Amino acid sequence: MSETNQNQTQQAQPKRKRILSGIQPTGTPTLGNYVGAVRNWALLQKDYDCLYMVADLHSLTVREEPAALRRRTRELSALLLAAGIDPVNSVLFVQSHVPSHTQLAWVLACNTQYGQLTRMTQFKDKSAKHPDNVNGGLFTYPVLMAADILIYNADLVPVGEDQTQHLEITRDIAQRFNNLYGPTFTLPDGYVPKAGARIMSLAEPTKKMSKSDPNVNSFVLMTDDRDTIVRKFKRAVTDSEGSVRYDAANKPGVSNLMAIYSTFTGKSMEEIEAEFAGKGYGDFKLAVAETVADALTPIRTEYSRILADKAYVDGVLKDGAARAARLADRMVAKVYRKIGLLQPER
Ligand code: TRP
Repeated sequence: MSETNQNQTQQAQPKRKRILSGIQPTGTPTLGNYVGAVRNWALLQKDYDCLYMVADLHSLTVREEPAALRRRTRELSALLLAAGIDPVNSVLFVQSHVPSHTQLAWVLACNTQYGQLTRMTQFKDKSAKHPDNVNGGLFTYPVLMAADILIYNADLVPVGEDQTQHLEITRDIAQRFNNLYGPTFTLPDGYVPKAGARIMSLAEPTKKMSKSDPNVNSFVLMTDDRDTIVRKFKRAVTDSEGSVRYDAANKPGVSNLMAIYSTFTGKSMEEIEAEFAGKGYGDFKLAVAETVADALTPIRTEYSRILADKAYVDGVLKDGAARAARLADRMVAKVYRKIGLLQPER
């Protein structure tokens, strides 16, 4: 092919931007995780080259039963597949299956200042919450996350608000490394999903929906069946006004339900207010519950089917790890060379 031809081909097919994101296998994702992360992961596949990772190494910062960790890692992988992650066009893998993440993390740790790590709010929050286990991994957690991202030269990183500080430190680490050793890493941008993404607790609607909440009625799990979903929404905290009206400050419960309904129906708040004008909360809650159940039921069915086929899930993860490792190993080799580690004979 002549050079002009090659250029034309490249112009016709601009290189797609790369996305990397991760989710910890710490329990079944909630409706909040679905709307805030998983659903977007599936949608983003249309426009980006995507790598999606089950961050099992990050979850080691909190002690967990080995058998549960192993089971949850496979379950979460199956759930991601059920939710539409395409293992052919995207790369789905488990973090610990690609050892170069931890290799790069060590190099980056040596290029990250203690003072900066002590300023991470998540480190401060988590150490306050678990004073009996303030381990080194909890402290260097953002460095491993930086390695996850930088090792693939990811352009965009979809994250929740709680991870934006970790993304900033990732950019700092990359920038400092590039200044010292020459251009090596792409500086990633965060991709924080649009409004409506922050789903609040059904029991205390001023708090974020969380699967670690002791009140099981405060959250809907991605794998809850229709009856459970309806029951949980029926119990959702509202207010005594009795009208479906959006007012996040004074009517957080109703506003949260409206936000959920809006997310799944695409209807605006005005349209929802009109739809339920003159109707009670009972009707409204049922409509929200049915809409959520309609969205989650196919995922749940698909999840059971996929999870029953362990060989399939493990095969997908093996293929994902191999494809991820090809990219990641190349980056580690480049970094090792740049910082002056003697290259072994091959
Ligand atoms: N720390 C992230 C979380 O708890 C998970 C994660 C690990 C991640 N590595 C990542 C997210 C890299 C984005 C990119 O939500």
